[in-house]
Amino acid sequence: MTRERTPDMEIPFVDVAGSPFRPPRRNDFAAFEYTYKAEVTRVHTLTAMETLYEIQLLDPEERRRFSFSPGQFVMLEVPGIGEAPFSISSSPLRRGAVELCIRKAGSLTTYLTKVPRGIRVGIRGPFGTAFPMERMHGENVLLIAGGLGLAPLRSAICYVQENRSRFQAVDIVYGAKEPSQLLFSYMYEAWRQDDIDLSIIVEKAGPLWKGPRGLITKRLKEILADRDHAECARNMYAIVCGPPVMFQYVCDQLNVYGIPMQKMFVSLERRMHCGMGKCCRCNVGSTYTCLKGPVFDYWTVLNLPEAI
Ligand SMILES: Cc1cc2nc3c(=O)[nH]c(=O)nc-3n(C[C@H](O)[C@H](O)[C@H](O)COP(=O)(O)OP(=O)(O)OC[C@H]3O[C@@H](n4cnc5c(N)ncnc54)[C@H](O)[C@@H]3O)c2cc1C
Ligand code: FES
Repeated sequence: MTRERTPDMEIPFVDVAGSPFRPPRRNDFAAFEYTYKAEVTRVHTLTAMETLYEIQLLDPEERRRFSFSPGQFVMLEVPGIGEAPFSISSSPLRRGAVELCIRKAGSLTTYLTKVPRGIRVGIRGPFGTAFPMERMHGENVLLIAGGLGLAPLRSAICYVQENRSRFQAVDIVYGAKEPSQLLFSYMYEAWRQDDIDLSIIVEKAGPLWKGPRGLITKRLKEILADRDHAECARNMYAIVCGPPVMFQYVCDQLNVYGIPMQKMFVSLERRMHCGMGKCCRCNVGSTYTCLKGPVFDYWTVLNLPEAI
């Protein structure tokens, strides 16, 4: 596990002329292992299993420098408990703070459900590849999430909201097992107000649920049936986040409607430890998903043996 480094622990570089030389922090490989001291500033229960944590860097200078892009992840460390990767769920415009939507799964995430606001944590990163949001400017965008897949997708949604005029039609298709498992429900109205077409579909629901029931692919079929294939192929991008079995079905369906595989982006999650290509835990074949991913275009995923 990476131990915390403070800038004064680093050995200063000395150039040939003998004057102290310190390379910019971002270019220094050691700085990649740097753990930012941070604090949990807000804890918000989303569902019985998922909690949203707002985490802010403590140092004002580091806050100013810290930035990320939608799709990237950070390693969150609770000293003495453990460290794990989590996708950033918040707006990339917000400097020095991240929101993480965390599902209770094992030791670290269960511990986190009991922490109060104000506890100190460590953040490494941001790591990994991002959704190519700028490439999508001027195009129609389909944002598709299943279950916890809305965690990484929400950062892309924030980007779209903040740059709404740069995109054509934007659709979000979100599927969950039951209504009680829907994440970020307090955001839905704001998304709709920003001219984003939101469709929610659940697999099982009681009589109070008035929306559609079934799998995401069913809702997607209805949406795509309204579009002509040539238009889809010409100017549509898709981001698909969820369990691998879901994005396989969804991406194949999108492809039938003419969207090229190179214009579909998925987030491929593997067990990760270092987040920086050192520990060999996250590889698919010879590809480290922490370095080349987690965001890949679907064409690349299909060409990675055993990726899905
Ligand atoms: C790039 C990336 C982004 C992620 N983003 C999020 C996120 O936004 N929100 C979130 O809740 N989780 C996310 N995860 C998964 C998260 O890292 C794990 O749930 C976490 O490591 C569990 O830690 P733990 O100590 O609580 O559980 P552990 O005690 O380590 O494990 C508990 C259970 O979770 C399983 N598990 C652990 N890691 C993974 C994984 N990567 N994929 C599937 N199963 C796993 C284990 O097999 C075990 O069954 C992400 C993982 C990756 C690689
Ligand atoms: S997480 Fe260590 S090599 Fe990718």
